[in-house]
Amino acid sequence: MDGNGRWAKRRFMPRFFGHKQGVDALVRTVRVCADRGVEYLTVFAFSSENWKRSSDEVSGLMGLVLVAVSKYLMKLSDEGVRIRIVGDRDAVGDKVREAWDHAERVTAHNTRITLSVAFNYGGRWDVVQAARRAMADGIKPQDLDEDCLSRRMAMHFAPDPDLFIRTGGEVRISNFLLWQVAYSELYFTDCLWPDFGPEQIDAAIASYRERERRFGGRLPEDATPQAANA
Ligand code: IPE
Ligand code: MG
Repeated sequence: MDGNGRWAKRRFMPRFFGHKQGVDALVRTVRVCADRGVEYLTVFAFSSENWKRSSDEVSGLMGLVLVAVSKYLMKLSDEGVRIRIVGDRDAVGDKVREAWDHAERVTAHNTRITLSVAFNYGGRWDVVQAARRAMADGIKPQDLDEDCLSRRMAMHFAPDPDLFIRTGGEVRISNFLLWQVAYSELYFTDCLWPDFGPEQIDAAIASYRERERRFGGRLPEDATPQAANA
């Protein structure tokens, strides 16, 4: 979800205004994706590297989590959204951690769409914490395999993403789901996150549909058909 700051700047507004609009874009995106039959939507909300931003911006973002949860949690829950938080929860403040725990608890029984919010998340962090868990579980080096790590990754409960979308014009992964995007279709758009909506989602899905997914195989028939999970 990139481009909030630039979106605000274009309007001569503070960056926080863009982040606020970004929350609305997220809620809109969840609804459109649910409507289009997407079962898993995973968003990068706050990276392990975002702590480097000004303390004003960081505390603004943390406050926004609390506001967003109190404003939208019950609505989204009523719409069948299950919320999962992925990332290093120990390092965020008590209030934010409690809000996330609460959001997960309240929505745990929902089945329409799973919204995973990557918060204080980094793809490399994820690989390292999975490896640490495997070691703590006493897995021997010769027994360590991809499955064994996958089961310990933050996104263990979801299939690998079919489609990876980055807004805001940068063409890089920036330490998002490194392990899981091995075979994802990548889609980059100049659209700034607060402007992201049904039109952009449908364009991304249309682009995805045109791709030929081979998963390293030679023939298109080798590819296993999957639902569109973004
Ligand atoms: C992304 O928007 C939102 C978060 C990281 C929370 P940015 O804040 O990166 O916006 P730009 O890239 O400066 O426009
Ligand atoms: Mg950015």
